Amino acid sequence: MRLPACFRPVLHAALAVLSLACVPALAATLPLIPMPQSATPGEGQFTVQPGMTVGAQGEGARKTAEQFIDLLHDSGGPSLVLAEDDAAKDAPIQFTVAPGTGGPETYTLQVTPERIQLNATASAGLFYGAMSLWQLLPSGNAQAGATLDAVTINDGPRMAWRGLMLDSVRHFQSVEEVERLLDAMAVHKLNVFHWHLADDQGWRIQIDQYPLLTEVGGCRVPLGDGGIGEDGQPIQECAFYTKDQIREVVRYAAERHITVVPEIDIPGHATAAIAAYPELGVDRPQLQVANGAGVFPNLFNADESTMTFLENVLGEVLPLFPGQFFDIGGDEAVKDRWKASKHMQARIKQLGLKDEEALQGWMVNRLGTYLAQHGKRIIGWDEILMGGPLPDGAAVMSWRGTEGGIEAARKGHDVVMTPVTHLYFDYLQTASPAEPPGRPSLIPLEKVYGFEPVPAELDAAQRQHIIGVQANVFTEHMHSFDRVEHNVFPRIAALAEVAWSPQASRDLASFKQRLPNLLAHYRALHIRYARTPFQVLFATTPSADGKQASVALSDPLDYADIRYTTDGSAPKADSPRYSAPLTLTVPTTLQAAVFFNDKPLAPPTVLGLTTDALRTRSDEQLAMCTGALMLRLEDDGPRAGPRAVYNVDIFNPCWEWKAAPLSGIASVQIRAGRIPYFFELAHDEYLRTFKKAKTAYGELELRDGCDGAVLGSVPLPKDPGADGFQTLDIPLKAAPSQANLCVYFTGDTRPNMWVLDRMTLIPAGN
Ligand code: ACM
Repeated sequence: MRLPACFRPVLHAALAVLSLACVPALAATLPLIPMPQSATPGEGQFTVQPGMTVGAQGEGARKTAEQFIDLLHDSGGPSLVLAEDDAAKDAPIQFTVAPGTGGPETYTLQVTPERIQLNATASAGLFYGAMSLWQLLPSGNAQAGATLDAVTINDGPRMAWRGLMLDSVRHFQSVEEVERLLDAMAVHKLNVFHWHLADDQGWRIQIDQYPLLTEVGGCRVPLGDGGIGEDGQPIQECAFYTKDQIREVVRYAAERHITVVPEIDIPGHATAAIAAYPELGVDRPQLQVANGAGVFPNLFNADESTMTFLENVLGEVLPLFPGQFFDIGGDEAVKDRWKASKHMQARIKQLGLKDEEALQGWMVNRLGTYLAQHGKRIIGWDEILMGGPLPDGAAVMSWRGTEGGIEAARKGHDVVMTPVTHLYFDYLQTASPAEPPGRPSLIPLEKVYGFEPVPAELDAAQRQHIIGVQANVFTEHMHSFDRVEHNVFPRIAALAEVAWSPQASRDLASFKQRLPNLLAHYRALHIRYARTPFQVLFATTPSADGKQASVALSDPLDYADIRYTTDGSAPKADSPRYSAPLTLTVPTTLQAAVFFNDKPLAPPTVLGLTTDALRTRSDEQLAMCTGALMLRLEDDGPRAGPRAVYNVDIFNPCWEWKAAPLSGIASVQIRAGRIPYFFELAHDEYLRTFKKAKTAYGELELRDGCDGAVLGSVPLPKDPGADGFQTLDIPLKAAPSQANLCVYFTGDTRPNMWVLDRMTLIPAGN
């Protein structure tokens, strides 16, 4: 009996993607991300054998065929060979570019018992078809064949701009790392690489007329201990891309049908440039390149000489980037310095402008005109809407939500939707304590997947202005490329489907079914994707006597097949399946993993349930009193090697153990670390609170609730120990049997701050 198409695995050899539920369209069951527009089943099958030839015909086809063969090789797929020109027509796998009706990014992929035929009207479409075929084929065993069911896939993108922004300022990536990211963008059919190249923390692009931009602006002393060498002297770290390196990245991207859009932020986020050339700033400030984070008040001035500087910079940058757009940033330009400067006020008057916002608008228009004269279009973050009418042809990146995009579209401007609520990949993706540093509001995979870039409130004409969607990777918290990879993957897969696939076909359940195949391809390409979305989370509640604990298990993506063991072995497909909270006797070691098609999706999570562990909470397991500005921060040292990570609310630093069992507890032991306080909060500064200190260096204070009675307090030392940590015991006074135990470090200890690493309840008599 033939199964309905939606139950038939498309590929029999190395992987089998079977739906848990029957999704009607075949496109939703093929192991492809992004999901194609349509797929129609055919009759029979075709087996791709190692050594088979790929025939390439038409412009660009040969290059694409080579890229496909190389990608298969790199990911351990069947090893294929490019057919010689005279044998191209007879090859069993055909890549053909020929005139037709589809747009340049569309393709048709046909699998029949006789051959695989990939057709497109341009090399971009052929390339995307090749990326689909690559995903249909298995990874990891070059000598294995792969049998595909006959199918015809017709596909093309929903959005013209399918973008990813990388911040190479806060942390720098080598050309090779940038190219690895471009490789990954390409397999997800993304086509715009927005490159953030200048900000407060660095200037990263060679400009011949202004060498200090990179000589001074490209260098900074890392924060705190990380910036001190073995000789006790500050270490300057310098990094920038030469023009040749930029050309190489642009060429590499173009080969993958990706356009590079450079960004130089104007007029804010300008500290590095002004540190290099003080005359560019307001009243010639003497600045250091920033090594902190946040919103800095340093703005370019709007003098004629500064406008000439900016135009000269553009004059050198534009020829490097053949794409249509140049991004002038424009975000978070707090106007305090302009307001306070007589010179700037005189400039506003001289130009006949209303106020400081209008002055930013004037700069945007002036640069927009320059760009138009050079055949380019201006794009900027949504704050560029605040300075009055934008130049014709200007486009807007809507990041503070979708409102800016809606306003821009209504005004007739093109829009790329990239809201901080859904598409910022520096936000943590799960609640796991194993997430690396970042912003702890969660943007999980399913939230990215659920973002709809075209607002319903726009009419049909206005909707045409939503040209795309983009995710942003700001790298304050990503000091190494593996952190970038962790944050990008697998959320980039959700972004790809939002950007490429028809809105009507968006289906999280089907996406989750298709994802494990892509993960296997990631592994084959050595992409260090986040395992956390596929790992079990534990919530532990000890019994009153501490002899047992109730443990609730969950999996972030709700694959709903958790297997666990308590005998020290790794969970297997036939291990007990989790269905309700477990009551476990202390001590026990619990291991659990999420399964899909009887295979674990990631290594198991291990929970050591011991009496000591039940009395201890790390900062990641504690609540914050207000959680107003939560960050997961990395320690500033050691300079090399692993560093401690702390959850901190930098507006109101406190850590709360809700319903802490204090019966029989005599004291609380706190292990604290200390990190630099490096946040520029601009107009939010007033929101920062510190509890008043009573002694020279402040106290470590325990309270019953955030604003409740003090349960214990000990003075803090001037400095932590040589290892950067301090362990303190705080005897409890008249504590109730249960309390929301709140930890504060009193006093304003800037430029440093104490942070909690872990707290342990110590029983009487210990
Ligand atoms: C931004 O996140 N400041 C664009």
